[in-house]
Amino acid sequence: MPRSSIRRLFTSAFALSSEGVKVYGLHIGDPDFDMPQRIADGVSDAIAAGHTHYSPMAGIPALRDAIVSHRQRRMGIEIPRNRVIVSQGATQALNSSLQLCVDSGQRVLFPMIYFPNYIQQSTLAGVEVDPYELDESFQPVLEKLEQQVTPDTRAMLINTPSNPTGVLFPPETVRALYDFARRHNLWVISDEAYSDFVYRGEYLSPLSIDWEYPEEERRVIAVYSFSKSYAATGLRMGYMLAPNDSAAFRLELMNEPLTGSLTTPLQYAMVRALEVDDTAERRDALLERWQLAGELLAGCGLKFASPDGGLFYFIDISPTGMDGDTFADRLLAEEHVAVVPGSGFGLVGSRDAAGTLAFTPNALAARCVRVSFAAPRADMEEGVKRLVAFIRRNS
Ligand SMILES: Cc1ncc(COP(=O)(O)O)c(C=O)c1O
Repeated sequence: MPRSSIRRLFTSAFALSSEGVKVYGLHIGDPDFDMPQRIADGVSDAIAAGHTHYSPMAGIPALRDAIVSHRQRRMGIEIPRNRVIVSQGATQALNSSLQLCVDSGQRVLFPMIYFPNYIQQSTLAGVEVDPYELDESFQPVLEKLEQQVTPDTRAMLINTPSNPTGVLFPPETVRALYDFARRHNLWVISDEAYSDFVYRGEYLSPLSIDWEYPEEERRVIAVYSFSKSYAATGLRMGYMLAPNDSAAFRLELMNEPLTGSLTTPLQYAMVRALEVDDTAERRDALLERWQLAGELLAGCGLKFASPDGGLFYFIDISPTGMDGDTFADRLLAEEHVAVVPGSGFGLVGSRDAAGTLAFTPNALAARCVRVSFAAPRADMEEGVKRLVAFIRRNS
């Protein structure tokens, strides 16, 4: 299984800061905001009330109901409670969704630049990955999709806004991807981890399109995370929404071997999280950092696709003559700024004659680096200034 390049840089940055060096950490997608107090209180209140035992496999009813109401307010659709399956972060929800939709040896379509967990989970499940092409603006090349479907293709993954590109697929693109999946009877796994952080453009979820169709034709499993929306990455809470009873039942069943039951006090805390809709506060704070980072980066002299949402700029640094890995290593050593090489976001697996799987980055990913603007504002500003100076010195 490939190692994530995020972790590689994390380890190097950690080693440097352990030596007492101030490192400007633009590598991690973890907003520095304090988690709302009501969530922390929710954990301790639940423990004090004795909610410390196993809980129902799909999650406690109060949380599933709170999620139903939340989605109804957000999207105007009323998901039946039995279709809501609580998970250990979006990470586990993605893993369960993949295992539900695609058996070992079958195939899934991912964007060619993607969140590294997708390839790790596919590799663990023995699932074959076909990356779908993105253009220079990181939008899907729709005309090429048809050629990639095989009789073994079972699912397509959509992540908008994306980690790492930050790009939002416009409504017509989401619709085209959905129609494509429908034509080929594919599942759609929609990773909505950043759907609360959109700074411009119109956001359309594949789930909204799915609800235009009768229930027996629905195909979207939507995956959500409490991590970024509620500044609670360490609590590891998320959920998935199933399109029909049978999928819901199977996803619930998978919670048993994968989690043994979700952490009970944290589920009570997430009920509290959803009592107040304050995600816009964090979105606005990030929007301000997104703007500032964009203004500073404009001075680097490189062309790059500005993100529409999420937490990252994904920049082609090839005019510096370096690949993303060399660039990230040198930037850390010379400027003490940590960014993530793009290579890990575009690994493609291939087997040698003996059947051993090896991973190499695609050319687009290899010439990029991912820059997070979720770091504390002052660190982000200084880090991006140093990054810009480094690019100018090397261009
Ligand atoms: C696109 C994307 N999906 C899913 C996740 C996983 O989120 P969680 O912390 O809820 O497991 C992340 C985390 O960085 C992400 O970037």
